Amino acid sequence: MLRVLVVDDEENIRHMLKLILKKAGYEVKAVDNGQAALEELSVSGWDMVLSDIRMPQMDGHQLLDTLAQRDIATTVIMMSAYGDRDTALEAIKKGAYDYISKPFKKDEVLLTLRKAEERERLRRENMRLREETRRTFSFDNIIARSAAMQKVFKTVRKVAGYKSTVLITGESGTGKELVARALHVNSDRAKGPWVPVNCGAIPEALLESELFGHVKGAFTDANKDKKGLFEQADKGTIFLDEIAELPLNLQVKLLRVLQENNVRPVGSTRNHQIDVRVVAATHQDLEKMVAEGRFRQDLFYRLNVLPIALPPLRERIEDVPLLIEHFIERHNSKLGTNVGQISPAARNLMMNYAWPGNVRELENTIERAIVLADENLIDVDGLPTRISQSQDSLKQLLSGDNLSIKQTSRELERILITRALQKTRGNRTRASELLEISHRALLYKIKDYNLQNIDW
Ligand SMILES: Nc1ncnc2c1ncn2[C@@H]1O[C@H](COP(=O)(O)OP(=O)(O)OP(=O)(O)O)[C@@H](O)[C@H]1O
Ligand SMILES: [Mg+2]
Repeated sequence: MLRVLVVDDEENIRHMLKLILKKAGYEVKAVDNGQAALEELSVSGWDMVLSDIRMPQMDGHQLLDTLAQRDIATTVIMMSAYGDRDTALEAIKKGAYDYISKPFKKDEVLLTLRKAEERERLRRENMRLREETRRTFSFDNIIARSAAMQKVFKTVRKVAGYKSTVLITGESGTGKELVARALHVNSDRAKGPWVPVNCGAIPEALLESELFGHVKGAFTDANKDKKGLFEQADKGTIFLDEIAELPLNLQVKLLRVLQENNVRPVGSTRNHQIDVRVVAATHQDLEKMVAEGRFRQDLFYRLNVLPIALPPLRERIEDVPLLIEHFIERHNSKLGTNVGQISPAARNLMMNYAWPGNVRELENTIERAIVLADENLIDVDGLPTRISQSQDSLKQLLSGDNLSIKQTSRELERILITRALQKTRGNRTRASELLEISHRALLYKIKDYNLQNIDW
């Protein structure tokens, strides 16, 4: 039985609504002002509120404002006096679901409530799904449902507890730092320090003393002993980001540290014992750098004990809808906005786009689109032109400099299948007809291209 709270200062309206609603099967309570309604709503859950706008003490607008401030989610329907349409619309802008004008007929009230009920049901269903998604497809703020990323989660869980060095590779923006943090947080070192170091951001001349420390007098500016980042990370994790930027002479020194578990500060004659878990990351191809003599092979092997490779976003588009949802929610709460949806056209464009900047680019796109959104909806015009005009993925494919027939045909096939599934909203029988292939062949290809878990 749904519970409806009636708020009105007129005794006879309260009485009438109580009768109508009880008879229609609702549980009803009536109060005579906004303040009393608020008290009632904060002690027990009411599915819907039917509230007058003009009331002494707290009026309907103030009630709506306070509900929003206190994050009390319930469906509110306003009742306005005849001719007070502007005030009613104002209330809808503030989050009321609908309004009815007084005097109203019995059927009008009941119909509006039925519609609201449907919305309330959808809202709950949505919340339940979101919660379920969060639980199933997230791991320490890393959101992904693709098989490739689920495999990464599994590896992270498995190797977090060991001290072995982990090397995380992947294009820029694929989540290397998030994974590194997850390794730390899920290990028994979580209470120890987490020390991220961007090897490319520290001037080469300072890098050695930053990493390993120095003693007083080691060089002109060294007027006292200084602990290096490795010692600061003792009993914790050091994250060597952009490891490919490490100069060759320091690569030798790092290798020694990894092998002997101690560091020697610049200018010192003593080694300091350390207990540090090393996680390194790079977006570069280290093996190629080894082949070109730019990265030491022995260090590469020493770092690459447990490799974790993060796939680019374009190879796991089934993660795109989930990430869109996640970032809409996150940026709404950061920006204080209330953007609830993305139009199917905008979503399709985002699923067809190649995302060279990976998840970071997607996150920035959503943040920008939220700021530009009208009517709380993200639409095509809120997307940057490189995405909104990337419509023609076929053209893009053919204007590239890749001449491999094998790769290009595969990519072409993937694009056509994606289009057919989008067009038929995931109806595989109809999609196979459009593609002029058998249903079986389509199922096989959907699996092959990893397109099975997508909400088209
Ligand atoms: N699977 C994911 N779920 C949620 N957020 C993600 C995911 N992957 C990346 N992000 C977010 O995207 C941004 C970039 O991620 P991160 O900094 O870990 O990338 P990176 O691989 O280290 O990139 P770079 O090589 O440019 O340093 C961050 O804001 C991060 O929170
Ligand atoms: Mg990074």
